Amino acid sequence: MSKNPLKTGEKLMFGIFGAFIVLAVVSFALLEMIRARSDKPMYQPTMHFDFTAEGKRGSELFRESRCTSCHRAMRNGTNMGLSLDGLGSRRTKEWIMAFLTQPEKTYDARTIDHGPAPKEAAYVAELPPNVLNDIAAFLSELRADQGSAAAPKPPEGRSEFIDNMLKAWAPKDWDERYTDVRKKPAEGEASGTGKQ
Ligand code: HEC
Repeated sequence: MSKNPLKTGEKLMFGIFGAFIVLAVVSFALLEMIRARSDKPMYQPTMHFDFTAEGKRGSELFRESRCTSCHRAMRNGTNMGLSLDGLGSRRTKEWIMAFLTQPEKTYDARTIDHGPAPKEAAYVAELPPNVLNDIAAFLSELRADQGSAAAPKPPEGRSEFIDNMLKAWAPKDWDERYTDVRKKPAEGEASGTGKQ
């Protein structure tokens, strides 16, 4: 059987694929090299935590109670579910506690997993109160900087990017129908209601 030589189109296609792969490998190696040598972090950390004793216990209980099978917090857990990083900047400990024990009453929307059986996270409300208390403390101590993706407020000062996005995408009367979070008085603390 004679070998079929590659057609011009095939050569071109494999050539382009190959070039992409080489480019990806080289740029990854370069990025890692720069990162290893740089004394400044490449990404400014925007999440913070400073745990009380309760919060520290809570972080362990959070993993032991299988919350990480649906959630992510502090690099633990799954990316598929809701990330709870920075939660303490959006919710108070009281709100979190109320949600964990009475999810359907507390949540602003219909719940999917938290709530009575057969919902999958039904067991959460049945955990002992001291476990839930420590977990709520842990989650309320996860803070996000203003302007980061997990924070309720956009970056400080005027942002041309946000202005342009609003001009391009928001309906004309959005200002009357919704509250502009940038105009809300400085909170510093989570409002706890979860309403924007
Ligand atoms: C089976 C998946 C699943 C498990 C397990 C789970 N959760 Fe959730 N969690 C969700 C989903 C989905 C939501 C969004 C509300 C809903 O649909 O139930 C949520 C919402 C939350 C919220 C509200 C976040 C917010 O402000 O919007 C908190 C707090 C929370 N979960 C904590 C926990 C803790 C603590 C545990 C472990 C004890 C846990 N969850 C276990 C799926 C899960």
